[in-house]
Amino acid sequence: MSTTDDLSTTEALIGRADVNDLEAILGVTNTDVNELVHHVKDNADCIFTWDYEKGRRPALNKLYEKAKSAQWNGETDLPWDTEVDQEALVMANAEANASSMFAGTVDLAGTVFERWDEQQWIQLGVESQNWMLSQFMHGEQGALVCTAKIVETVPWIDAKYYASTQVMDEARHVEVFAKYLDDKLSGHYPINAHLKMLLDDIIEDSRWDMTYLGMQIMVEGLALAAFGFIHAMTQEPLLKQLLRYVMSDEARHVAFGVLSLKEYYEGLDADEIRERQEFAFEAAVRMRDRLLQQEVWERLGIDSKEAVQAVMLSPERQLFQQMLFSKIVPNCKKLGLLDAGDGWLRQKFGEIGVIQFEDWTDTGDEYEAFALSEEELPTAS
Ligand SMILES: [Fe+2]
Ligand SMILES: [Fe+2]
Repeated sequence: MSTTDDLSTTEALIGRADVNDLEAILGVTNTDVNELVHHVKDNADCIFTWDYEKGRRPALNKLYEKAKSAQWNGETDLPWDTEVDQEALVMANAEANASSMFAGTVDLAGTVFERWDEQQWIQLGVESQNWMLSQFMHGEQGALVCTAKIVETVPWIDAKYYASTQVMDEARHVEVFAKYLDDKLSGHYPINAHLKMLLDDIIEDSRWDMTYLGMQIMVEGLALAAFGFIHAMTQEPLLKQLLRYVMSDEARHVAFGVLSLKEYYEGLDADEIRERQEFAFEAAVRMRDRLLQQEVWERLGIDSKEAVQAVMLSPERQLFQQMLFSKIVPNCKKLGLLDAGDGWLRQKFGEIGVIQFEDWTDTGDEYEAFALSEEELPTAS
């Protein structure tokens, strides 16, 4: 066995031999929930370029020009006067989407949910909303700092220009999720340990393209799919509009990753590509692990392992988990990561049950379809 093989076992990459080992996943918890600031070394050189020729990379230049005219204001362009009754919303969402656990269509006999009454299901719904929006907010801050790092580290002027617009977008995203949590929901959650590990890994990596792969392709690819799912599902008009606006930005961000890495990866050798494949797999697993919302089960005082096992009985939950990879997998394919070398990443994505999305639309051009229309774009005042 070669050294590369030793290093790329699942155990070496993610710290456990079985990717589905529930106890190991739930054993990783956030041990410092009261910390107010968190330090991470970002290990990178700041790069100046003296080549100022704008538009040398036409696709990035086009994205930059689009971004300039697609800015919105989180304070003034969203209907913040909308009343949100969180409990009523949980009920309305469950009704509109025939939520199977809530509706009793999944057999929960013998699980921790067996004797749950309506009030307990509502409480779970409320906590899940608080948790989910909190994790989105933390992820948005990750995007903010990662993209600021890209401004410093990417050697191309068109990419520095574009990334600077994304920094502004991400500040707005952190702002609107934080405001929504404070004004409309009923509690924050600290960052999930798996998400934190992933953000730390991305920021710590010294190679500029790894920031893109971790953030623009993996984290933002998942966010774009998740926002789309929740946008379609929620019965709450303010959140719906907020997500609509955020998604129009996110689609550009993922395109930024695809367009930049497509060019860069063409110049990498087989070993370097293999490192990118491994990083993509590690990120995919961390994001899957964080979806188990272990902090919610802890707060509700029920056993996390039993809760997760019961939740997984729901077909819609399984579908949701898989759908979150519907942008990531086609984008990895477009970048050549699925099949490079011996097709290592294709096999790994098969193992975690998401390879079926490989031929879905990639996000290189899809951002045009997500753009806000003239009517939606707030008029400049
Ligand atoms: Fe964002
Ligand atoms: Fe983003």
